[in-house]
Amino acid sequence: MAKSYDVVVIGGGPGGYVAAIRCAQLGLNTACIDEWKNDEGKPALGGTCLNVGCIPSKALLESSENFERISHTFPAHGISVSNPSIDIGKMLARKAKIVKTLTGGIEMLFKKNKVTRLHGHGRFVGGGEPWHVEIEADGKTEFIEARHVIVATGSAPRQLPVAPFDGERIVDNAGALKFAEVPARLGVIGAGVIGLELGSVWHRLGAEVTVLEAGDAFLAAADEQVAAEARKQLTKQGLKIHTGVKIASAKATKKNVTVEYQTSDGTTVKETFDRLLVAAGRLPHTDGLGADRVGLKVDGRGFIEADEHCHTNLHNVWAIGDVVRGPMLAHKASEEGVMVAELIAGQAGHVNYGAIPFVIYTSPEIAWVGKTEQELKIAGVAYEKGQFPFAANGRAHAMEEAVGFVKFLADAKTDELLGVHIVGPHASELIAEAVVALEFRAAAEDIARIVHAHPSLAESMHEAALGVAKRTIHI
Ligand code: FAD
Ligand code: NAI
Repeated sequence: MAKSYDVVVIGGGPGGYVAAIRCAQLGLNTACIDEWKNDEGKPALGGTCLNVGCIPSKALLESSENFERISHTFPAHGISVSNPSIDIGKMLARKAKIVKTLTGGIEMLFKKNKVTRLHGHGRFVGGGEPWHVEIEADGKTEFIEARHVIVATGSAPRQLPVAPFDGERIVDNAGALKFAEVPARLGVIGAGVIGLELGSVWHRLGAEVTVLEAGDAFLAAADEQVAAEARKQLTKQGLKIHTGVKIASAKATKKNVTVEYQTSDGTTVKETFDRLLVAAGRLPHTDGLGADRVGLKVDGRGFIEADEHCHTNLHNVWAIGDVVRGPMLAHKASEEGVMVAELIAGQAGHVNYGAIPFVIYTSPEIAWVGKTEQELKIAGVAYEKGQFPFAANGRAHAMEEAVGFVKFLADAKTDELLGVHIVGPHASELIAEAVVALEFRAAAEDIARIVHAHPSLAESMHEAALGVAKRTIHI
């Protein structure tokens, strides 16, 4: 007889594994099916985020930033290092060790919380409740049933027909996280989050990096002023960024790859790179899920249709994370997982989609929460703005990182914070204060009245909040 569970989660990424743990904490008998295998061919939990996404990219960003500091920041401190070098093998081994530690950590959390881990490909078998799911692994098939199914199958890189991945010269994020040597010339298609983060990694290590972006705007989702500052800083560092580009073809040989593209003024350019990273967005992953067998609704772009509580068109079938609408972010996936677990357990689950932070881990870092200035203008919302540059922040100078600014946007009538935008040092950490403020529907004055430690980067948050009432102290 098929084993029966209260909840079966399909997918063990930050959406699925968090959902499974929270379900188990709430007393639900839970299993999590995941098919990921790491480079050693061993099953590994954590999905894209832990294996080829957030964690390994941040490990390499840290290594490469340390390397770059030696040449570009240390001299200002009076520290000189002659002929610094980097051992790429060691750098990759460090990244792999971090990934192993963290993916192994999820295994331990599953044991601790008594989540049943099932390795293999999960697929709906047939309609009706309980739901019937099959798990296929190494030619063997097992059948289970569950009252609730949470689909958390994530996303996969979008392949461009003009530049198909070959895993060697034309690669996706996974490939660009494991180049065995620094490519002398790296081409990047897409000036999105992956293109800029991984482009920065290899640029800092010595690659000449050219980023080819189809859109006319740079970082269109970010606040325009922040995007302009980020582009200025990245260009100053040496990243070549072209927007409004049309890729015609990418042809790989054993040694290199030649990309033909049209620039925004219509000129045709042929450029040869050692490697090409294609980072042109990601697509929801529902291949082989058996959605059609049970009538699970998937929209024209491949996303599973879900309401604001992640409930699908099928009773007791839920979908969370990259496979549903909303930003493709690990913390968004996890919070949806918690929400669904709590709803299944009869509690009140909720995600505030208006207060999800976005972070791009370039240098300077970019982070925001809430509305951009251009969004407020389009919506016709009257707002006040407070802005403070890190050039006027003592701690930023002490760190030799006095670039960028913080911008607060508040409702002109009520002073409620509507958006906070940062481009500058440690923006990824500073944004947390703004997220709390938006979640609690704070006014700019609330932040302006809070004591911020001196000297700290957070003083720039304080000053930008003061700036809304036109009363900054240090500019
Ligand atoms: P995933 O993490 O994709 O996990 C889905 C899992 O389901 C996978 O293990 C997959 O193998 C498995 N699966 C799929 N179908 C089946 C099936 N039928 N049966 C069994 N298993 C199945 N986000 C951030 O918030 N911060 C960052 O810094 C960040 N950096 C990133 C860097 C890179 C290079 C990339 C590519 C992404 C990054 N992201 C980041 C995005 C983040 O990784 C995703 O938003 C997040 O992983 C989504 O989680 P998920 O659980 O929905 O899906
Ligand atoms: P993205 O959506 O951020 O950027 C893709 C870029 O490629 C866009 O600017 C798009 O205009 C461009 N593009 C699309 N087709 C193109 C073409 N044919 N030619 C040239 N340019 C083209 O997607 P990306 O960078 O692939 O990342 C996928 C997702 O992963 C992101 O949406 C993000 O949510 C997540 N992610 C998050 C990170 C973070 O939170 N720090 C880090 C990395 C990824």
